[in-house]
Formats: sequence, C-alpha cells, structure tokens
Amino acid sequence: MKSLRDLAVAGKRVLLRVDFNVPMDDAGRISDDTRITMVLPTIRQLLAAGARLIVCSHMGRPKGKVVASLSLAPVAAHLQALLGVPVTMAPDCVGAEVSAMAAQLQPGQVLLLENLRFHAEETANDADFSAQLASLAEVYVNDAFAASHRAHASVVGVAERVAETAAGLLLEKEMDYFRKSMAEPVRPLVAVIGGAKVSTKLAALENMLGKVDRMIIGGAMANTFLKSLGVAVGASKVEEDLLDTARRFTEAAAARGMKLYLPVDFIVADRFAADAVVKTVPAQDIPEGWMALDIGPASSLLFGEVIDGAGTIIWNGPMGAFEMDAFARGTMDLCRRVGASPALSIIGGGDSNAALKKSGEEKNVSYMSSGGGAFLELLEGKTLPGVAVLDRE
Ligand code: 3PG
Repeated sequence: MKSLRDLAVAGKRVLLRVDFNVPMDDAGRISDDTRITMVLPTIRQLLAAGARLIVCSHMGRPKGKVVASLSLAPVAAHLQALLGVPVTMAPDCVGAEVSAMAAQLQPGQVLLLENLRFHAEETANDADFSAQLASLAEVYVNDAFAASHRAHASVVGVAERVAETAAGLLLEKEMDYFRKSMAEPVRPLVAVIGGAKVSTKLAALENMLGKVDRMIIGGAMANTFLKSLGVAVGASKVEEDLLDTARRFTEAAAARGMKLYLPVDFIVADRFAADAVVKTVPAQDIPEGWMALDIGPASSLLFGEVIDGAGTIIWNGPMGAFEMDAFARGTMDLCRRVGASPALSIIGGGDSNAALKKSGEEKNVSYMSSGGGAFLELLEGKTLPGVAVLDRE
C-alpha cells in the first residue's frame, strides 16, 4: 500500500475518497464533525503539495435517489471554514458539468463532489460509473477507512482504474493501530466486547479466540452467555437460538486458555425506560420480570482490574444502555479505567465512541477508530476490500 508520502502530486488532479457520513441534527447542521477533522491532515498535505483536489464521499443510504437532506453541501461549507480555503460544491459526482469543474481546478483548489450514493451504481461497484469517477483524476487516494469494508465503486472500482493510488494518512493510521493492537500486541491483550447482540459480534469473538489473552463480555450479549451457563436472567434480552453457540464459545475459550470475564452483578430495571425502578443485584439473583440494563459496581471493579493488568486493550461495544443515565455507570466506569491505563488502547464502533465522548475520556485513550462496520470487520479477521485494492501490484 503506497503512502501519501510516496506521491508526487504537484499540479495533478487527485480524487480523494473520504467518509463524510457525519450525523446531522434536525436543523440540517453537522452534530459531530469528527470524521471531517480526522481527514484534515491528508487534505492539508495534498493541498500543500500542489494537488488539484477532488473530494468524494457518501452520506447516509439514499439508495440511488437524490435525497436533499443527504446532500454534502453543509459539509462543503464546514470544510471550507475548517480549511480556510474555498471549497466548491459540485452539483453531482459524475457527468459533463462535474468533469468540466474538475478540469478547471487549479493547484491548491478543492472541489467536493455530491453524495456518491445518489447513484445506485456506487454501491453496485458499477464498471461504467467507476470509470467516470476515475476519469476525473490522475491519482486516487483512499482516506475513507470507515467505508473501506464496502466494495463500492468509489472504494474499489475507481482504485482499479486510476494508475496511481495511495492510502491517506487516516487510513494508514487506522491500519497501523489495528496491527499494533491485534497482530503485534504488548501482552496481555485484553478485548472488551459489549453491545446488544451476540449475533452481530460472533464472527469477531471467534476470530479473537487464540489471539486475545483475556476477554471481557458486557452489554446485553452477556445475558445470553450467562443463560447458556444456567444463570436465570429474568426478563433480560437473550438470543435463545445462540445459547448453544455461547456455551461452546465459553468451552473453547477455556480450552485455548483465554480468560473470559462475565458480569458478576447488574443494575436491573422493571422495564426498559429512563425512569424505571432500578436496583443492584448479583448476577445469579436477577428477579423474574426484571431486566439487566447495566453491569453493577462489583463487575466494574472486576473488569477494572483486568484493564489495569492489560498490555493492550481493544474495545468494541458498551456495557449497558448508557444512553439512559440510569444505566450509564458501568460503561462510564470502563471509559475512565481505560483512559487511566498506560496500555495501548484502541476503541471502535459507533456506540463505544459515543460513550467515550460522553465520558470525556476521549483524549486519554491511545486511539478512537473512525470506523463502525469497518472496525468490526477487522476484528472478524477480514481483509477490507478498499485496503486490498491498494495493496495490489
Ligand atoms: C459508517 O458509518 O459506518 C460508514 O460510513 C459506512 O456506512 P454504511 O454502513 O452505510 O456503508
């Protein structure tokens, strides 16, 4: 994978794929610009090197239709303010008008293409559409780590058609942190896996067997594990069809010498609501009709000690329903503990990132990945198509 540093881009038209799929509020304003600020170093470096810069991204899932609320126009304005350089918004991402705008671009100027997914050909990795995008530039740079698990036209098809390709600084950084944490970890390597469902994390759990030294399982998925071991979990969310799978995973972990930590107590509630009646109970004493919505203080202590003993920490998924304050403590405690750890810590996934920001510990961890699905696919041991295509000779 060629690096941005190996490219000579002076005077060349560079197509930069980024992930500007940022959350917007009801008034159409960007509510979190992290994904934009994370690619500024790449944009600045390309502009300083004299590139004629064409930036492209998707936003949301408009399914091949033009959806006004998913236009990248607000992003163009925000990017312009952040860069202090004019950013021209294109009316589309392909077509004669866009080609003309790209051709007229001068070194140091920026053109932002409209949402790639307004064309169904983008997600279909359509050959003609890829060729049209590729024709806009002489160099292609992928800095869209969070979209690199998608074999879409702007991620794969274009990279196959532009002579010179490279990874942007963010993509490089993401892959580097992942390699340091999973392939060359300082041991013990501790994985913290949370979230609602075992089913969405199963492939990641299985891939981590034999690679990770200690694994903490929290969130609603812990209920399925506890029930598979014969613990009554009341009205807690359980994936009944995965009880056998969960039990086999526990056995496989023991056989491979991977220590598995499950919650020992819970904050339980009489219903799933912010104003529910709550109490703290040992894991084996969840009352009938009550549901576990957060790990309890004893679990926080136990998990905290595992974190303290870590050489490397990799974390995906919250410990409870942290979006409601009554059930946020377990996840917040974990954020603080990871933040205080001197170990290399890498956190990824939309919910974990939101929790980390809520805790204010964002600056105290080694790295917060920009990827949701892409980060999970790396945990699953998959090769990202957008990275593989840059690796080809
Ligand atoms: C994300 O938000 O994870 C990326 O932007 C990818 O979006 P997608 O899941 O719609 O492909």
